[in-house]
Amino acid sequence: MATERTFSILKPDATRRNLTGAVNAVIEEAGLRIVGQRRIRLTQEQAEKFYEVHKERPFFGELVSFMTSGPVVVQVLEGENAVAKYRDVMGATNPAQAAEGTIRKRFAESVGENTVHGSDSAENAKIEIAQFFKDSDIAA
Ligand code: CMP
Repeated sequence: MATERTFSILKPDATRRNLTGAVNAVIEEAGLRIVGQRRIRLTQEQAEKFYEVHKERPFFGELVSFMTSGPVVVQVLEGENAVAKYRDVMGATNPAQAAEGTIRKRFAESVGENTVHGSDSAENAKIEIAQFFKDSDIAA
């Protein structure tokens, strides 16, 4: 399995509770390298575009309003099998169903405020990374 990249967001519930270092420690301990990172405030337009696939879902409005409620940290993670590895490290979307030791089990408050986002495929990772990073922002 070749080295690949995935896209990560530390969500507003993480920045609000000063958990960015604690979450990054879990990411790095799992062998993923943080090769790009920026703390930003998502605009309404950015959040709506990012979560466009969910726009017909009943929770879309709540999701966009939460994601714009405070700063987030957007990241590019690199490593062997990074997409699948980060999904393992994050745990299930709903923290109540997340395995012991995962980020969401340890830190997440609810299915909506679930601390982290990670790409679900290598193809989506490329699209998501391109939404927030130029090649020159990434130092591997
Ligand atoms: P994420 O991986 O960022 O991708 C879509 C997000 O929608 C997901 O994490 C959850 O935070 C959110 N989500 C999924 N299901 C629900 C739900 N039932 N209520 C509120 N938010 C949800």
